Amino acid sequence: MATHAGESTERHDQVWQRPAVASGYHDIRDGVPFVEAQFEVMHRLLDAAGIRVRKLLDLGSGDGIVTAVIAERHPAECAVLVDFSEPMMAAAHARFGSEDSGSKVDFVVGDLRSANWHDRVVAAGPYDAVISRYAIHHLPDEDKRALYMEVVGWLVPGGMFVSIEHVSSASELYEAAHDRLMSGSVVAADGADADAAAIENRYWTRENAQANILAPVDVQTGWLIDIGFVDVDCAFKAFELAVFSGRLPDA
Ligand SMILES: C[S@@+](CC[C@H](N)C(=O)[O-])C[C@H]1O[C@@H](n2cnc3c(N)ncnc32)[C@H](O)[C@@H]1O
Repeated sequence: MATHAGESTERHDQVWQRPAVASGYHDIRDGVPFVEAQFEVMHRLLDAAGIRVRKLLDLGSGDGIVTAVIAERHPAECAVLVDFSEPMMAAAHARFGSEDSGSKVDFVVGDLRSANWHDRVVAAGPYDAVISRYAIHHLPDEDKRALYMEVVGWLVPGGMFVSIEHVSSASELYEAAHDRLMSGSVVAADGADADAAAIENRYWTRENAQANILAPVDVQTGWLIDIGFVDVDCAFKAFELAVFSGRLPDA
């Protein structure tokens, strides 16, 4: 069960720095539903805005899966990945290689709740697109909003912020439906021979669930509008899985 915004001040997100949590996530990631649909929505948003992604910033990148998906259509000049989990960054290094091997990816080990990495991000920017997938919901609401405000300063005029995100349900009915969807999908992804009970148990008892601080998508799109983003909307939502975005006004 997720924490809802404002319920607790204790930090749980640091469980992501544990190798077992990072690898446990990679074990179930293929079971998350609507992955392809969400990536398609992301591509369509970038296309609709006429954005050719040359510089990309990926916040809470994990192993850089979204950066890799964008790079399939936009051979970027450079991408900057930010994550505070060494095991996740090791997985990103494994995916993209090192600078020595000609990688155009910069790996920034940084806590999204702190600003001590912002200089590096600014130095490599500004960015045509800033993306984040299933990461910012680990921050308390005030830190989510503060991060969205920073993003304004990191984008080029007309640049786009796209968040593929886990958001809160409107009521327990929707939360229960979401939970059933997730556990069923994780089991289904493991194939017909899977030990459904064991997989479900692993899903329900995963340590990182405690790190979720879910906020409603309309609250978050409201922040983007207040902060100065335009063309703000939630273009995809299936229960708690959303894609919301906004772009900066043109210069
Ligand atoms: C569910 S994983 C998503 C990873 C990747 N974006 C993906 O789509 O597979 C959440 C990621 O957020 C990162 N994360 C959580 N809290 C963070 C924080 N405070 N600062 C930096 N990264 C954080 C975790 O280390 C992890 O890589």
